[in-house]
Amino acid sequence: MKTDVQNPRKAGEQVNLKGDTLIIRGGNPLRGVVDVRGAKNLATKAMVAALLGETPSILRDVPDISDVGVVRGLLEVHGVVVTNGETAGEIHLNPTDVETAHFAQVDALASSSRIPILFCGPLLHRLGEAFIPDLGGCRIGDRPIDFHLDALRAFGAVVDKSYEGIHLTAPDGLKGADIHLPYPSVGATEQVLLTAVRATGTTELRNAAIEPEIMDLIAILQKMGAIISVEPNRVILIEGVDRLTGFTHRSLFDRNEAASWATAALVTHGDIFVAGAKQSELMTFLNVFRKVGGGFDIDEDGIRFYHPGGELKPVTIETDVHPGFMTDWQQPLVVALTQANGVSVVHETVYENRFGFTEALNEMGANIVVHPRGLPNTPRRVARRDFEQAAVITGPTPLHGANILVPDLRGGFSHVIAALSADGVSRVSNVDLIRRGYEHFVDKLAGLGADFDVED
Ligand code: EPU
Repeated sequence: MKTDVQNPRKAGEQVNLKGDTLIIRGGNPLRGVVDVRGAKNLATKAMVAALLGETPSILRDVPDISDVGVVRGLLEVHGVVVTNGETAGEIHLNPTDVETAHFAQVDALASSSRIPILFCGPLLHRLGEAFIPDLGGCRIGDRPIDFHLDALRAFGAVVDKSYEGIHLTAPDGLKGADIHLPYPSVGATEQVLLTAVRATGTTELRNAAIEPEIMDLIAILQKMGAIISVEPNRVILIEGVDRLTGFTHRSLFDRNEAASWATAALVTHGDIFVAGAKQSELMTFLNVFRKVGGGFDIDEDGIRFYHPGGELKPVTIETDVHPGFMTDWQQPLVVALTQANGVSVVHETVYENRFGFTEALNEMGANIVVHPRGLPNTPRRVARRDFEQAAVITGPTPLHGANILVPDLRGGFSHVIAALSADGVSRVSNVDLIRRGYEHFVDKLAGLGADFDVED
């Protein structure tokens, strides 16, 4: 049963959608249908996995976002031929002539993304060396790479740091290892998987991340010929093989994008059918969405999210690794909680600095107090991080328009939906950052009836 909501923007209406600043007139409920395609945090890793194959791979449902463009560029400078398939979102990756890239090329392409670090294992297997420049990513904390480098050393890689970046070699080849991650890091788990599949012998990875995107990456590697078993208690065993071939795979949907549009519907008193969203990867999100007062109907080909009327309710939650409440879901949720009747608490336990976006919400009229050292709370599913933060949100507070500079991907999306729900006009700049992870998001806003203009 799909929603029968109407799109209030008139057919044929022309809008400039390319600029970096949105002038948003708040107050219009978002209504209509958005398509969510492959996950940013899977498709980019799947593209790296293609490097390990001796034959070409086909990846479907690849989102048209700038992070995919970064990985595509990095693959191309390493000799991988990447072409578009006949259907939208399909790409073909031919890694038969992989070659060493120049430091400068890699550095120029990589500066805005953390994905380059995942090239290490595949490039060491294919070429015997890898170069990793200084890593960028969102402004949400230090985002160190120590787990990655320690794991690579355990496989036998030699890591040389210089002012230009990090150069890795494997003079004696890469050998299976016993690795216990200090924290179930998504990236470090992917690093181990992408390295262990072609290392000699068996790798035992303990305290691994088990996010759905990791499971989809394991499925891809199995299609390529890898032998990987996921054991209880976050243990993954990988038996190295001599040879991997290409894969054909449709990416898992982007559950972060789905949760963002869901919350946009709630915040703007709207009604959005998120085509492509699936219940199984969103269960934890759906529980919280319901507790806050949001409505949803689950369909075979998507989920309808809406504000069912009545007041929103406060919640106390903590972000966590899977199957907990994702750190990437808290930013839009905080906007909804500014409209809940009472005091909500959100603990951020994954990153040390992921509440910077609340400053702009306070300028818009919210009442959010950030406690940099957290608040006393219940025991954690994984070891408590000593840098956790807590945000205490007291609502409901009407929001009014403001001038906002987008600080990071998820924070930026939350600023846009806050502006869409606020009284008056907001000027939201630096929205190119949001394009890193939200496919055609300005077009989608226009399609949902948001009232805005775009400036360069
Ligand atoms: N960490 C370390 N050392 C490391 C690696 C991680 O201390 O070597 C710490 C991080 O600083 C962080 C924590 O471990 O405090 C968790 O980081 P993790 O490695 O799990 O995150 P990631 O792989 O860098 C991915 C996503 C993030 C998402 C997190 C958590 C990608 C490209 N990024 O990051 O997505 O928030 O997992 O699920 O897959 C986003 O999409 O906006 C985004 C930031």
